[in-house]
Amino acid sequence: MLKAVCVMKGTGEVQGVVHLHQEGDRSVTFKGTITGLTDGKYGFHIHAYGDNTNGCISAGPHFNPGNITHGGPEDEVRHVGDLGNITSANGEAKFEFTDSVISLRGKHDIIGRTVVIHEKEYDLGKCGNDESLVTVNAGGRLACGVIRRAQ
Ligand code: CU
Ligand code: ZN
Repeated sequence: MLKAVCVMKGTGEVQGVVHLHQEGDRSVTFKGTITGLTDGKYGFHIHAYGDNTNGCISAGPHFNPGNITHGGPEDEVRHVGDLGNITSANGEAKFEFTDSVISLRGKHDIIGRTVVIHEKEYDLGKCGNDESLVTVNAGGRLACGVIRRAQ
């Protein structure tokens, strides 16, 4: 069993912890709680770099080893890092989901990369305009954290 953890922080109130685990080559499970968000949906992705020196912006673009276009987590064509949105209700975003594209080892390894929570809902790259395909209309970055191996 491979395990990882990500402690998320930003310049504002938004913060939280995400635990990840993977059994063999199966899907990766994400389990986390984020606080400080007003109720709604927020883009939640893996960005390419584990660099947060200049805040969350230093994490770069979505993790995209295949160099293809954005998609939703269920789409065949998507970035490895395209996880969609998380939902906050009653001041807390509590979530648990699995993803079969991301991995904790090998080509799609996300260890050492950054989880980002955006200020807006991610449109899954489907608005059809250039802005949607490039920035996915998810806006700025509220909080982020580097994914690290855990026991
Ligand atoms: Cu993102
Ligand atoms: Zn993407």
